[in-house]
Amino acid sequence: MQIKATDKSLLDWTGDTLALGFCEGATELTGDLAQLDEKLAGTLQELIAEEEFEGKTATSAVTRIGGKNNFRKLILIGLGKTEDLKVATYRTTAAAIARLATKDTSLGISLPLEGEPSAIAQAITEGIHLALHQDNRFKSDPEEKAPKLETVDLLGLAGQDAAISKGETIVSGVILARELVNAPANELTSITMAETAQQIATEYGLEIEILEQADCEKFEQGMGAYLGVAKASDIPPKFIHLTYKPQGTAKRKLAIVGKSLTFDSGGLNLKVGGSGIETMKMDMGGGAATLGAAKAIAKLKPDVEVHFICAATENMISGKAMHPGDILKAANGKTIEVNNTDAEGRLTLADALVFAESLEVDAIVDLATLTGACIVALGKNIAGLWSTDEPLASELKTAAETAGEKFWQMPLEDKYFEGLKSQIADMKNTGPRAGGSITAALFLKQFIKDTPWVHLDIAGPVWSDKPNGINNSGGTGFPVKTLVEWVLG
Ligand code: BES
Ligand code: MN
Ligand code: ZN
Repeated sequence: MQIKATDKSLLDWTGDTLALGFCEGATELTGDLAQLDEKLAGTLQELIAEEEFEGKTATSAVTRIGGKNNFRKLILIGLGKTEDLKVATYRTTAAAIARLATKDTSLGISLPLEGEPSAIAQAITEGIHLALHQDNRFKSDPEEKAPKLETVDLLGLAGQDAAISKGETIVSGVILARELVNAPANELTSITMAETAQQIATEYGLEIEILEQADCEKFEQGMGAYLGVAKASDIPPKFIHLTYKPQGTAKRKLAIVGKSLTFDSGGLNLKVGGSGIETMKMDMGGGAATLGAAKAIAKLKPDVEVHFICAATENMISGKAMHPGDILKAANGKTIEVNNTDAEGRLTLADALVFAESLEVDAIVDLATLTGACIVALGKNIAGLWSTDEPLASELKTAAETAGEKFWQMPLEDKYFEGLKSQIADMKNTGPRAGGSITAALFLKQFIKDTPWVHLDIAGPVWSDKPNGINNSGGTGFPVKTLVEWVLG
């Protein structure tokens, strides 16, 4: 499917379906719209009146146009109040339009334009592609339900081809992340995840190192926490480190660390009775978004050095499994009493964060499907954000705003670390039920010395049970867009 910016006016555009956007309370027809209505013998005005269409957010009206007209279907879509218009509004509006036009072959979109045209064109592009993307790879007939849309013309956005192309590059990263999340654990393992990273490296010229188990044992004081989790798996752990370096000197050095549990059974603290074990292929959502961001960033070529780190493995049970009560030593020498084997993500991240900090980067962002508690706190659509550094937290929040992805900053309440105190080791890996996503963040903080750090708990938004905004059901590719916008600055 091709998205193009066009200088055609509303009156000359020809194709299947024309979508017209209106802000709330701004449905009087003036200028080109009045002329279009005249050409359509008043159909537009009639549709507005009959459907009582007022331009409110997420409202729409659709009608067929008879006779010899330039197009045969008309969609009206509401963008809400003019003063509330944001870049993200264009993204979700475009997604809604795309869903109303999946059976058509050509679509024209004309929206009221308030703001930076390049940002708008990029957001519309992202919204259309992401709403139409369906992962049919595991169906015997992948073409069965594929959308028919072939071309989309953006009216009023002539000259924005670079912005469209940027949006498409970001989309390619989001779709990679979605596909990695959707792929089940019998398909997507530490090995295939490392192969995916290798493909990105080869295709886009990134540096790659894969630390095998023996390499992980040798790193600093040994990655005992990560390897403790990996022990029960028959599949070898793969510690993935991809590096993007710009041509000239880098303005900054950043690290992105993604939790990469290709399956989380809970370990000997097995996930039983309604704890959603069958959904735990998504537990590498952080790593998936890390690789998705790597792909997009490698194509967009910012002046920033970025390290992408995924400590990939699965949390399984076997005679070799770590026992509840085992004591592990992380690469920085800190010891951990594993009082719950199901709090495995933080164990893998502990060593990955020590590794990231050893690269002497200016900032570290980790992203993880870390706790059910974060979903309880913030629901399915909002991720938690914790940070040791307010300016860095602000950078992420600004990027998220542009990306249309929701985060809510949560406290790094040091006092709660008391809940992780161990009699026998430096800390336990889990505390009391109350504040579970906060103690998880405090645990991770033990593995960061002084590099500005942001932790994102993405357990909710990584997966969607039903179509919602730009997402379809399944992996969402959250928060690839935020990561890319953050790195681009
Ligand atoms: N991967 C899970 C968290 C999770 C839960 C992600 C639901 C997505 C949806 C994580 O490894 C986990 O099991 N966390 C435990 C922590 C507990 C043992 C302290 C949890 O949230 O129950
Ligand atoms: Mn777990
Ligand atoms: Zn997990």
